Amino acid sequence: MNNYFLELTTFPEEDLKIITDFFWESLYPAHTARSTVLPNNKIGQYVTYFDFTDITNIKIPTVFLKYPVLARNCLIIESHPGFGTMIHIDGQVTNKSRRCAINFPITGGSELSPTRFFGMPDDYEYTFSEKYSTTYLADGVVPNEVARISIIDKPALLNVKTWHTINNNGTEPRIALSWTCQPGLDFARAAESLKRSGYAD
Ligand SMILES: [Fe+2]
Repeated sequence: MNNYFLELTTFPEEDLKIITDFFWESLYPAHTARSTVLPNNKIGQYVTYFDFTDITNIKIPTVFLKYPVLARNCLIIESHPGFGTMIHIDGQVTNKSRRCAINFPITGGSELSPTRFFGMPDDYEYTFSEKYSTTYLADGVVPNEVARISIIDKPALLNVKTWHTINNNGTEPRIALSWTCQPGLDFARAAESLKRSGYAD
């Protein structure tokens, strides 16, 4: 296993359907309403945050029971063709609230819209942006890609305390639901737990 992602190759289809239905019914309308008005969103790249305590959906409590690694919040990342994120680390490098997340494929995932990884925090000089609550590379740093995954039809656990980015070079908008794991739970422990439960090899 690498330190960057774990593809959940044996994640049950029926659970993926519960989660994607939940996305389209309960999250997507609110994401669409918010995505164009949030000040940090730019044309072509829309990110919104949801706290599940504000959202009721009859099937979601069973998802929490079955997947105890999942926390009560998520990000929706919508990248249109030609757009993407800057290389970043989620939050502060030292912050433990979102150390890893399970990214569920919603639409537009392909070999042309992979999540790419560039190493561990201390491999490069960085600065934290208070405004975007995100850590970015210092000016002029050019990192090397070390791993990549295309999230197409299976979810993947991602280590968001590593350098990563998404660029959509495909022809369709790409939407991913990035469901945060429990605060404090690091990538290695979350991966171990998911493997023990039989969701990955
Ligand atoms: Fe991220």
